[in-house]
Amino acid sequence: MKKIAMLGVGYVGLVSGTGLADFGNEVICYDIDPTKIEKLNNGDIPIYEPGLVDLVKKNVEKGRLKFTNELAPAVRESEVIFLAVPTPSGKNGEVDLSYIFNAVDQIAHLINGFKVIVTKSTVEVGTNDKIREHLLSRNIAPEMFEVVSNPEFLREGSAVGDFMRPDRVVIGTRSAKALEIMKEIYRPLYLIETPIVATDVHTAEMIKYASNAFLATKISFINEIANLCELVDADVHQVAKAMGLDGRIGKKFLHAGPGYGGSCFPKDTSALTKISEKAGMRMSIVETVIEVNNRQKMRVVEKLMKYIPNLKNKTIGILGLAFKPNTDDVRDAPVLTVIEEILKRGGQIKAYDPEAMKEMRKYFPQITYVASTEDAAKSADALIIMTEWNEFRNMDLNYLKSVMKNPIMIDTRNIYDPQKVQAVGFIYDCFGRKTVN
Ligand SMILES: NC(=O)c1ccc[n+]([C@@H]2O[C@H](COP(=O)([O-])OP(=O)(O)OC[C@H]3O[C@@H](n4cnc5c(N)ncnc54)[C@H](O)[C@@H]3O)[C@@H](O)[C@H]2O)c1
Repeated sequence: MKKIAMLGVGYVGLVSGTGLADFGNEVICYDIDPTKIEKLNNGDIPIYEPGLVDLVKKNVEKGRLKFTNELAPAVRESEVIFLAVPTPSGKNGEVDLSYIFNAVDQIAHLINGFKVIVTKSTVEVGTNDKIREHLLSRNIAPEMFEVVSNPEFLREGSAVGDFMRPDRVVIGTRSAKALEIMKEIYRPLYLIETPIVATDVHTAEMIKYASNAFLATKISFINEIANLCELVDADVHQVAKAMGLDGRIGKKFLHAGPGYGGSCFPKDTSALTKISEKAGMRMSIVETVIEVNNRQKMRVVEKLMKYIPNLKNKTIGILGLAFKPNTDDVRDAPVLTVIEEILKRGGQIKAYDPEAMKEMRKYFPQITYVASTEDAAKSADALIIMTEWNEFRNMDLNYLKSVMKNPIMIDTRNIYDPQKVQAVGFIYDCFGRKTVN
């Protein structure tokens, strides 16, 4: 059992902090946003993540998980300090490390004994070295701390399961002592034989970017294949399925759609191109992945305008705002581009999402938010499915058609069978599958 301070209670910090508490550690979570801490102390969870409410409750009741607005006692009483603060895209797409260094500055003068400082945030290669130099420049003696890179691979929407049963845990450190402490923290994962990749700090930092860029590449690749399928009369579902049966390729991340989004792939791919630029080389593959992804978001609008060339005063119903199902996160979601482009052309939007409407209001307060799929369809000139929430998979198509002004459906997630939707009388479009409109 270790005493841990978790700095940041966002998607990563709250899930990891709770997971580490569930592993038997004593975890105290701190955030600079007092409203989040207040909510957590009142039993409210500030984000939507399946399974998290119960896991937080269980660990709070066991006394292993606490939330505080006071950084000093949290740092002083902990041996291990995790950084789970944001690392957004900065100017020119480089990673903005200001939150990391603000946090390091905040903890520097609180170091009262040996501390392991663990970076969970996704940071540019070399950042942990800089954290070390930063602390040394604050006159913290080298024997008082060690830095560790411990990148996180959880996926929003299944974050709890991913954290509790990860494919691997990556620990980058030059210190044997810090490695032992980290292994103790993750001991329950040892017992279920989770591979622990112990490596140097730069390699650990690189593993995170390489993994995300590879997954983003798979998505852009299958999206380009889908676009080609449309031109040559082939079916991307069958192509992806047959490709995925090849063990060397793997079936995951081969779903054609409106492009990747979320708080990681867009910023991490962009950061990787900047990291390589700084190192003196171009990552042409990743640059193209980003370009293909940007084009794919626009293809949603192009598909819509194929059926409605002039969007002025047309009402478009949008189903799904979160960048993927089972989350309320809308950061960098492809739908942001779609909404912006429709509004730019004078269109109006009625949107529905089971969890993400509150977040989307921060970006687009001017659009109409409705309480159901049916309300989004009512009097709409077209309906666009942007997120594959389960409740959109089995809608009453006859009813939707009867309440829409024009029965046009753009299914960007390919969740419906084109023939069935067309049989109901919809004009139906999707990505990379045969449709006869
Ligand atoms: N979201 C994901 O799916 C995911 C997955 C893997 C890795 N990551 C990485 O993890 C990091 C965090 O991502 P996130 O999605 O959890 O971000 P988030 O924005 O949801 O949460 C970050 C939290 O940190 C808090 N914070 C900022 N400065 C702080 C400070 N000095 N002290 C304490 N708290 C502070 C913020 O108030 C916020 O609550 C990022 O580097 C991200 O790239 C995210």
